[in-house]
Amino acid sequence: MRAVSIKNGKGPVDALYIDDSVSEPELKNGEVLIRVKAFALNRMDLMQREGKYPVPAGTSSILGVDYSGTVLKIPPGTKTPLQEGDDVFGLVKGGAYAELLAAPVETIFLKPKELSHEVAASIPEVWFTATQVLLEVGEFKNGESLLFHAGASAVGIAAIQLAQLHNAKYVFATVGSDSKKEAVKKLQLKNSPTKIIPINYNSEEFVDVIKENSPEGVDVIIDPVGGIYFTRNVSILKLDGRDVVMGSMTDTNVKFDLLAVMLKRLQIKGTTLRSRPLAYQGKIADIVKAEILPKIVSGDLLHPIEKVFKLEEIVEAHKLMESNKTTGKIVVTIP
Ligand SMILES: NC(=O)c1ccc[n+]([C@@H]2O[C@H](COP(=O)([O-])OP(=O)(O)OC[C@H]3O[C@@H](n4cnc5c(N)ncnc54)[C@H](OP(=O)(O)O)[C@@H]3O)[C@@H](O)[C@H]2O)c1
Repeated sequence: MRAVSIKNGKGPVDALYIDDSVSEPELKNGEVLIRVKAFALNRMDLMQREGKYPVPAGTSSILGVDYSGTVLKIPPGTKTPLQEGDDVFGLVKGGAYAELLAAPVETIFLKPKELSHEVAASIPEVWFTATQVLLEVGEFKNGESLLFHAGASAVGIAAIQLAQLHNAKYVFATVGSDSKKEAVKKLQLKNSPTKIIPINYNSEEFVDVIKENSPEGVDVIIDPVGGIYFTRNVSILKLDGRDVVMGSMTDTNVKFDLLAVMLKRLQIKGTTLRSRPLAYQGKIADIVKAEILPKIVSGDLLHPIEKVFKLEEIVEAHKLMESNKTTGKIVVTIP
């Protein structure tokens, strides 16, 4: 089959190439075979390509965690309501940058006919992650306030809207440009009482902006950026606040005041979605299916697509993500 491979196993963007002699995936118990029509890029793909992402044991070495396509084969005895020929999309632990994919039944969705394969393929990772970091790990409650770093990232776009569904009071979001501030403002949902305040970290200090608007601080911080923000995060959390570490795009070593953690009863939590057991991912899938998917189909939740590439353009697709200029999902199709 055709799949995206990496020369010498890891490397810079130009190491990516289309390999047409990759072995077809072998199905494990509880997996079905998918003919992939589209897959989406996620930031961790860049890190994995460079050999800097700890891929869970037993996972395909092929990049890619979300896909849309058609069910080709369901082994006898597999517990699933799906049928061969169904159009589906979902989340996998790896292997989506390929024509054929082994996908676990726990995290497969029937594709609503209103959604194209391109849109469907780009839903799982970001909305599962937003659900996990905000609701499961961040334990965000109605009326609380949120700070999301990298607010115009694909996960940020999802989480900022999800926080509004849970009646956030304030959502502060750091971004790297004024045009990204505008993109974040557009995430205001109809009839939502939430006040969304984007902050350009190149010209504004997020601690000052938060103090001006919400002197008591915020309840939850979701941080994919890491080291450079941690000390300031601790300073701006309220009593019983939660700091959710979900990425480390900058430094991972930090020095901070333990006293503040103790006196404010803060919780510092870390998480990754990919390493979670299938049963946990299946639970998140149920929440996404019930609460989020219908709202994406109806257009009540925005799920912007930045650009769609063909498989042969995979290098350009990775270059676009590396540019840090996007405010939507990058998708690749396999006709
Ligand atoms: N823990 C988990 O389970 C999990 C799951 C999915 C994603 N993630 C993490 O979530 C983050 C966002 O992923 P995504 O796929 O949504 O990314 P994305 O759409 O590609 O957006 C990433 C944005 O982060 C900002 N950024 C990039 N490098 C940065 C740096 N060195 N310092 C500060 N900001 C930087 C840039 O925005 P600005 O121009 O606004 O700075 C960039 O556009 C990544 O860190 C990813 O690893 C974690």
